[in-house]
Amino acid sequence: GAASALRTSVGGCPIDHSRLDPTGRPVSPNAAAFNPFGEAYLQDPAGALRWSRDEEPVFYSPELGYWVVTRYEDVKAVFRDNITFSPSIALEKITPFSDEANAVLKAHGYAMDRTLVNEDEPAHMLRRRALQEPFTPEKLAHHEAIVRRLVREHVDRFIDAGRADLVSEMLFEVPLTVALHFLGVPEEDMATLRRYSVAHTVNTWGRPSPEEQVAVAESVGKFWEYSGEVLDKMRQDPSMPGWMPYGIRLQPEMPDVITDSYLHSMMMAGIVAAHETTALATTNALRLLLENRTQWEEICADPSLIPAAVEECLRFSGPIVAWRRIATSDTEIGGVAIPEGAKLLIVQASANHDERHFDDPDELDIRRDNAAGHLSFGYGSHQCLGKHLARMEMQVMLQEFTTRLPHMRLVPDQEFTYLPNTSFRGPEHLWVQWDPERNPERTDPSILDRRQQVRLRGPGGRAVARTMTVRRIEREADEIVRITLADPHGRPLPKWSPGSHVDLEFDEFSRQYSLCGDPDDRSCYQIAVRKDGDGRGGSRYLHERLTVGDVLRMRGPRNHFRLDPDARRYVFVAGGIGITPIIAMADHARRTGHDYEIHYCGRSTGTMAFLDRLVRDHGDRLTVYRSAEGVRLDVDALLADPVEGTLIYACGPRRLLDALDEATRHWPEDALRMEHFTSDVGKLDPAQEHAFDVQLAESGVTVHVPADQTVLTALRAAGFDVPSDCEEGLCGTCEVPVAEGEVDHRDVVLTKAERARGDKMMTCCSRACGKALTLRI
Ligand code: HEM
Repeated sequence: GAASALRTSVGGCPIDHSRLDPTGRPVSPNAAAFNPFGEAYLQDPAGALRWSRDEEPVFYSPELGYWVVTRYEDVKAVFRDNITFSPSIALEKITPFSDEANAVLKAHGYAMDRTLVNEDEPAHMLRRRALQEPFTPEKLAHHEAIVRRLVREHVDRFIDAGRADLVSEMLFEVPLTVALHFLGVPEEDMATLRRYSVAHTVNTWGRPSPEEQVAVAESVGKFWEYSGEVLDKMRQDPSMPGWMPYGIRLQPEMPDVITDSYLHSMMMAGIVAAHETTALATTNALRLLLENRTQWEEICADPSLIPAAVEECLRFSGPIVAWRRIATSDTEIGGVAIPEGAKLLIVQASANHDERHFDDPDELDIRRDNAAGHLSFGYGSHQCLGKHLARMEMQVMLQEFTTRLPHMRLVPDQEFTYLPNTSFRGPEHLWVQWDPERNPERTDPSILDRRQQVRLRGPGGRAVARTMTVRRIEREADEIVRITLADPHGRPLPKWSPGSHVDLEFDEFSRQYSLCGDPDDRSCYQIAVRKDGDGRGGSRYLHERLTVGDVLRMRGPRNHFRLDPDARRYVFVAGGIGITPIIAMADHARRTGHDYEIHYCGRSTGTMAFLDRLVRDHGDRLTVYRSAEGVRLDVDALLADPVEGTLIYACGPRRLLDALDEATRHWPEDALRMEHFTSDVGKLDPAQEHAFDVQLAESGVTVHVPADQTVLTALRAAGFDVPSDCEEGLCGTCEVPVAEGEVDHRDVVLTKAERARGDKMMTCCSRACGKALTLRI
């Protein structure tokens, strides 16, 4: 209106008022300029959206007519809620076709409709459950032999050539053949389907010109028709092996769930789902690993690192960079109002590089602790059914390459090109070269007989450990030592964020310690350890037996105590050795120019670590309380008045944390953040626990949970693949919705309000108060 006309006339205003989003807000220049078919996004989708993650994590793109979601938490939240955010548009053409192209499709009887990935509830879950068995690791085992044979045959063809484009020599072909086998396509039909399948990506996620649209429509139409013919052939003999015949066999029992439309649509979409994803994923992974030569050499030397490397490559450079949902009601994402009917592009590639979730995200680290938390397979009830098959293929291909061609390198100076589209990403060619004279099998043919294991379930809670050496041990205060650890070969360590800890394994111990050095110093890590006379011996070992040069195993860093960068002010409270994460946080706050104050409680100067450093670096922000001098922190006085935008970060003895909890009851929920450094979740003591039943409302199954098992373990044993990460009640990955029954919550993830609502639980640790629980899965 008049007001916006007035504003537009003011020169230099950074906002283009000529464009408004559907809620009437102006579109920012960055949002207006966003082009998902442009070179910047194709080359580096996460980098091209960094501005968005930092400044405008949910924005409207007039170019696309979609709302774009770029932060990890928001992308995951959209995936998680497939009712508010329906997947029905997942396979819709992102660029509408011309009438002429549509006429071509019609002439072929094209009627692609709902499969699984774009189906709403309740139909989706019924269908998914009916069809999921062939995807379980057990059922996939026999495909492994096929994959190995195919991979070996393909490498045989070019291993003596010294140079190859891996995409055209095998990375396209092998996953396609595996996909066709998995679906059950007869050998004689493979060649034809192979020819047509390529057009589908452009059809769905690309921006073909009007002339290209007609050609694409022609291929897609033929693909559709031929899929129908193959399906008819399968119907004549449904005893054939494969996932499509499996569905055909089930159809008479559940005709409303496994419809003709479903079968025909899946026959076509299934090829794309299984083929291009895996082909592009493997291409991206090989390129990444060859570009990060040290890590390539590490997996060549130790193939047991391959499953973790696959997961990190899927995070760093997944084949599906963005997926789609549509809002079914007015709602919000990350505080941004989203109207009913809004189409969403949720960018997994950006989420997977979100520094709010992954430390130093643009660095490849095959030992990254939370790599398996990537969103490349989606998340929640639609999470990729084929992920075990994809992982198996990728692992087998990497095993073969690292064994037979460890000396291969990328051909230098090659340009990587991508098919312009919003969602599928991987270079069209990957040229590598090597000296065939040096092929290891020429001198040692026995390497070909090496038996290697495929690991199908994600790396789960335990990241791959690295070996560290003790560089220095210094006295920090009475009974406190500071230990400096470094990579034995001097290799750089991952950067970490304040609040991170590592798991150290030494002697028979495994202990967690917060990192307290400089997060940007990649040459070493520092921890501080207080000798705990009453403890279980871990700290005593480090104090009395550890010497410089000793070797320890270390996992992590991982961070369950992240500093929220959006806070206006921090209040840091540390008790005793609890200063270790706090000092890293305070250093960070100082560097970033945040407002903060530190309250540090201890017995006496001699017993308090890092006092000199704190006084030097944080001078007037620091208040020290020494109980030996009768000076104690009065938490009630400190926190008497809640302050909007202030967050309290605390680490220390349980007494202090409980007092803080008490003193912040009138603060906004979640204002107090505590380091749950040692979780209370220990081993289950069957003498203290009782057994109960878990009813699964959506699958109609009842699972018994014995006294010595977690709900998570029991669900897994019954074939339900609940994701998990820390398995200590810390990370929130294993959350499931609860329909009925009182939960005995033991995690530290849910807020008080969430516990009171009782509609979700963490399956790794929480249990039933009574005899039964009903879960909404
Ligand atoms: C769904 C990725 C390989 C079959 C999906 C989704 C993604 C995805 C992002 C949607 C998830 C969601 O909406 O939450 C990938 C990647 C792969 C891969 C990155 C390779 C690295 C495969 C393979 C198959 C397959 C080999 C085998 C047939 C499926 C099916 C669904 C699906 C059937 C639909 C599941 C549902 O909606 O319930 N995949 N996929 N995928 N994928 Fe995959």
